[in-house]
Amino acid sequence: MSSLSRLLFLCFCFSLLFFSSLSEEDDQYRKTYIVYMGSHPKDQVSSTPLSSHHHMRLLQEAIGSTFAPHCLLHSYKRSFNGFVAKLTETEAKKVSEMEGVISVFPNEELQLHTTRSWDFMGFSEQVERVPSVESDIIVGVFDTGIWPESPSFLDHGYGPPPPKWKGSCEVSLNFSCNNKIIGAQSYRSDGRYPIDDIKGPRDSNGHGTHAASTVAGGLVRQASMLGLGTGTARGGVPSARIAAYKVCWSDTCSGADVLAAFDDAIADGVDIISLSVGPKRPIPNYFNDPIAIGTFHAMRNGILTSSSAGNEGPRPFTLTNFSPWALSVAASTTDRRFLTAVQLGDGRKFNGVTINTFDLNGTQYPLVHAGNIPNVTGGFNGSISRFCLGNSVDRELVKGKIAVCDSIVLPSDVGSLESALGIIMQDGSPKDLTAAFPLPASHLGTQQRPLISSYLNLTRIPTATILKSTELKLEAAPLVASFSSRGPNPTTPDILKPDVIGPGVEILAAWSPIRSPSDAKGDNRKLLFNIISGTSMACPHATAVAAYVKSFHPSWSPAALKSALITTAFPMRGDLYPEAEFAYGSGHINPLGAVNPGLIYNASEIDYIRFLCGEGYNTTLLRIITKDNSTCSPTNSGLVYDLNYPSFALFTYISTPFSQVYKRRVTNVGSTNSTYKATIFAPSELNITVNPSTLSFKALEEELKFEVTIEGKINGSIASASLVWDDGVHKVRSPIIVFDSDTFPR
Ligand SMILES: *[C@@H]1O[C@H](CO)[C@@H](O)[C@H](O)[C@H]1NC(C)=O
Ligand SMILES: *[C@@H]1O[C@H](CO)[C@@H](O)[C@H](O)[C@H]1NC(C)=O
Ligand SMILES: *[C@@H]1O[C@H](CO)[C@@H](O)[C@H](O)[C@H]1NC(C)=O
Ligand SMILES: *[C@@H]1O[C@H](CO)[C@@H](O)[C@H](O)[C@H]1NC(C)=O
Ligand SMILES: *[C@@H]1O[C@H](CO)[C@@H](O)[C@H](O)[C@H]1NC(C)=O
Ligand SMILES: *[C@@H]1O[C@H](CO)[C@@H](O)[C@H](O)[C@H]1NC(C)=O
Ligand SMILES: *[C@@H]1O[C@H](CO)[C@@H](O)[C@H](O)[C@H]1NC(C)=O
Ligand SMILES: *[C@@H]1O[C@H](CO)[C@@H](O)[C@H](O)[C@H]1NC(C)=O
Ligand SMILES: *[C@@H]1O[C@H](CO)[C@@H](O)[C@H](O)[C@H]1NC(C)=O
Ligand SMILES: *[C@@H]1O[C@H](CO)[C@@H](O)[C@H](O)[C@H]1NC(C)=O
Ligand SMILES: *[C@@H]1O[C@H](CO)[C@@H](O)[C@H](O)[C@H]1NC(C)=O
Repeated sequence: MSSLSRLLFLCFCFSLLFFSSLSEEDDQYRKTYIVYMGSHPKDQVSSTPLSSHHHMRLLQEAIGSTFAPHCLLHSYKRSFNGFVAKLTETEAKKVSEMEGVISVFPNEELQLHTTRSWDFMGFSEQVERVPSVESDIIVGVFDTGIWPESPSFLDHGYGPPPPKWKGSCEVSLNFSCNNKIIGAQSYRSDGRYPIDDIKGPRDSNGHGTHAASTVAGGLVRQASMLGLGTGTARGGVPSARIAAYKVCWSDTCSGADVLAAFDDAIADGVDIISLSVGPKRPIPNYFNDPIAIGTFHAMRNGILTSSSAGNEGPRPFTLTNFSPWALSVAASTTDRRFLTAVQLGDGRKFNGVTINTFDLNGTQYPLVHAGNIPNVTGGFNGSISRFCLGNSVDRELVKGKIAVCDSIVLPSDVGSLESALGIIMQDGSPKDLTAAFPLPASHLGTQQRPLISSYLNLTRIPTATILKSTELKLEAAPLVASFSSRGPNPTTPDILKPDVIGPGVEILAAWSPIRSPSDAKGDNRKLLFNIISGTSMACPHATAVAAYVKSFHPSWSPAALKSALITTAFPMRGDLYPEAEFAYGSGHINPLGAVNPGLIYNASEIDYIRFLCGEGYNTTLLRIITKDNSTCSPTNSGLVYDLNYPSFALFTYISTPFSQVYKRRVTNVGSTNSTYKATIFAPSELNITVNPSTLSFKALEEELKFEVTIEGKINGSIASASLVWDDGVHKVRSPIIVFDSDTFPR
């Protein structure tokens, strides 16, 4: 994770120190645990919900009748079974031994991970739509809540919510829903509402409003961030309805609350879930991961979850959302970037990045290197103040000047530079996670450092100005964002993750006017639209594409929607990235292509159950999860290679010969009579065969089987290939990646 992205996430990571005095005495030995108990008995979803009494009884049975009721914080009862409770370690162990309990794990903190992007991917305002079906699609957005007054969420022309909707609106203060935002709930299982957030579903952060409007915001003409990025802001499915589930607060997001939102959203009747939140570290067991559990139950109820890959790149194994039953989305650039130019007194101009809405009108101001004005009384010298940290720069001496810093500065806390007139940062950190500062600022690279340094040394009165950001059209796009988390898949390396990549850099979308773009004290800019970056922005683009596909094919399963996105993605340029598919999956989302994929790699709950059996999850465990007759017999236990996934990955050893067979089946969703031929694109170190290599379909919905054999010996850390089924109309492309386990040790 780059230093800037770390800094940007700090705001979600500070601890709960000032609440600890509220706890009762023996509660201080208790931690919050999530107790997961699988599905309800079949057909009981939401009809006869279990009561929290049931969970209380279980707790008393495990721990003794002394168990205090206030320690049971929340019961999951609408879509699956389980609860959240404050337990000591010993109590947690006792509970984990109770019959029917699948897993007991600590409630970990999670973290949060516009509109040129649609046109960039060939998805214009005029594309064909099925408005009546699209407006029946309900997108569940799990995030920081929503700003209902945003112009993106006006409900003119919308009828009442579709009849299938069973959710509700948590009306609080002056928050209310409309026919666009048809549901809104907030979740805080510990009841400790932070004082600097708003109780209820209103978004005081902006992140959730941004995500929701990227998926399903209506058209807003002449939208801009104070003049930057002016154009029409729109979501990918502008007619769809939004249900906002606030799971993240100004201090934290928790697994228990995300799971509570899944419990409700599934029962409420959402069609698709967008989740731009993830754990801080990958969790190795699917059933100790609240997001893997929630997305599993969503899948078994026919709901696809689209999730963000994480912002911990570019190191390998940094993905945090990677369940095979959900979609994992990486982040890329579009052909629009924002540049912030710096002009020195001698006329030379350097282009940096940041989102700078301030206009200094071209006026030159004194330029000073922060290393030359340390805060001496504070005990700092120039070798510290050159990095501009905290109070290291003399506030008085920097007043009215533009400061040059040899490092990036935290936008929400510029320290002593708050009295400066502008900031020029110069360092080698990646330039993708662009930020807005509370004063004019530009981020340059290290190559300009000697030029500016010699200008400062050789000029009697050095001056500079910082220009308002301008838009730049880039031919080289999309590129993978450096911050985007990379594969391999930390738990199941033989399943390729991320699945796809989508726009996540400098995205303009709706915002909460009560959070300034820099989040700094004293930044009084109030925005209805903001430009931000992250896999959190890429995920809602993929959610929208899946919803768009669903509006043409309402009966498609979550796996079918996923397959459509994966096999139609625009290939990325592998030569630019040594980590190849681990950066971008099958490629960039392609909304128009995804509607008509030709073939589908389908999968249902039973396929995932087989996969789990093969991964060592046993019958006892699976029966509790599914509450049916699932068994892990040898005939019902599938190899990971045989999960009907639309991509292929093989974890192997360099210079060691291998041969692996993959079983697959594809469903014809193209034309009645069609003959597909397999084509393999592979480097010479791989021999890949497909059997049969021709598939002749006689009907729609017909399913045919084939096998892919991958043989060879890799001589580098990664070998990339692909399989394309082609009927002359559709090109159904699956990426293939073979990689060395010593280069990517688990
Ligand atoms: C909520 O109501 C209060 C009091 O009427 C008002 O001051 C405030 O601006 C309102 N907030 C929003 C977001 O509408
Ligand atoms: C730039 O010019 C505008 C319009 O003349 C003025 O309102 C603004 O204050 C000026 N800004 C600065 C930093 O001088
Ligand atoms: C500057 O301060 C740091 C930390 O206080 C110290 O380690 C360093 O030696 C100082 N440098 C100079 C040139 O005085
Ligand atoms: C120097 O730093 C101290 C804290 O370390 C701070 O209180 C003081 O205001 C700073 N002085 C200047 C001139 O920046
Ligand atoms: C500018 O001066 C500083 C200190 O005097 C020196 O460290 C630096 O190398 C000089 N820069 C250039 C480009 O000459
Ligand atoms: C995929 O499988 C599901 C579950 O078996 C089924 O409902 C669906 O019709 C199948 N086909 C597609 C294209 O989703
Ligand atoms: C099934 O797995 C669970 C959890 O890993 C374990 O406690 C149990 O003993 C296993 N059952 C059998 C029959 O192997
Ligand atoms: C499980 O299998 C038994 C016997 O084969 C059958 O009677 C029962 O209905 C099945 N239960 C479910 C939930 O499918
Ligand atoms: C598909 O092919 C069969 C046999 O060749 C033929 O009878 C049928 O009419 C064809 N259907 C369509 C829709 O072309
Ligand atoms: C790997 O070996 C193949 C031939 O087996 C050769 O064509 C290719 O250039 C080699 N690649 C590397 C990275 O050495
Ligand atoms: C690929 O197959 C051919 C023909 O069977 C064989 O000669 C060649 O050695 C194989 N290459 C690799 C890398 O296994």
